[in-house]
Amino acid sequence: MAENIYTKRYSERAMDEVRPMIAKVGVVPSADGSAIFETGKTKAIAVVRGPRTLHPQHMQNAQTGILRVNYGMMPFSVEDRIRPGPNRRSEEISKVTEWALSSVVDLSGFPNTVVDVFIQIPQADAGTRVAGINAAAMALAHAGIPMKEMVSAIGVGKIDKSLVVDLDKYEDSLFHDGEGSTDIPVVVTSRTKEIALLQLDGKISIPEFKETIEMAKKSCEKILEVQMNALKEVGKNE
Ligand code: CDP
Repeated sequence: MAENIYTKRYSERAMDEVRPMIAKVGVVPSADGSAIFETGKTKAIAVVRGPRTLHPQHMQNAQTGILRVNYGMMPFSVEDRIRPGPNRRSEEISKVTEWALSSVVDLSGFPNTVVDVFIQIPQADAGTRVAGINAAAMALAHAGIPMKEMVSAIGVGKIDKSLVVDLDKYEDSLFHDGEGSTDIPVVVTSRTKEIALLQLDGKISIPEFKETIEMAKKSCEKILEVQMNALKEVGKNE
């Protein structure tokens, strides 16, 4: 069997080490809820508006409010400028983020309303969807939206034969034997430890997959701590 060429991370991080994190809540005082979540050079800002009456009326649900997520990368967030406006990738990330957050948000007390979550990425170095979900969960809590529990999110994966957490863009783009690295965004709920979202881009064996999920759950414990500390500090940013 060929030797593993990625036994040490170029950044000198341990295989199970998340990049340095920064989290702040209440960063946009005019919004109902807001937060920033950063990991390394990846930065996500989430702003919540609502609940407010949903228009047009035929889209309303008399049983519950609706969560709507809009994710976008700013044009200067990566080296090759991104064209502003929605695209297939941003539509997909908006949808999966909506699903992940909907599993913990309870809008049954707000029929016929919508809660809008806007996620913007001013700086991207991989892992933007998970950073966006971490920021959005804090912003929703800050807005006082009822949540059954929190969610925390992390990208895990495989580079050559090594299992790693929180791949950055360089690691995301590494190739070996003609195949790219494997990237698995995972969202974990805070209390019941359920998987609220899992996507898989690349190849991985079942035992390795199980191990990466365990790594994701451990990382999410650390991320949750950072999120909760930021929520406790909320008054200081307002
Ligand atoms: O950001 P995330 O890992 O959730 O999603 P991705 O589609 O796997 O993108 C990985 C990274 O590729 C992003 O975080 C950006 O750094 C970069 N990217 C880019 O340079 N240009 C794009 N149009 C989209 C992504």
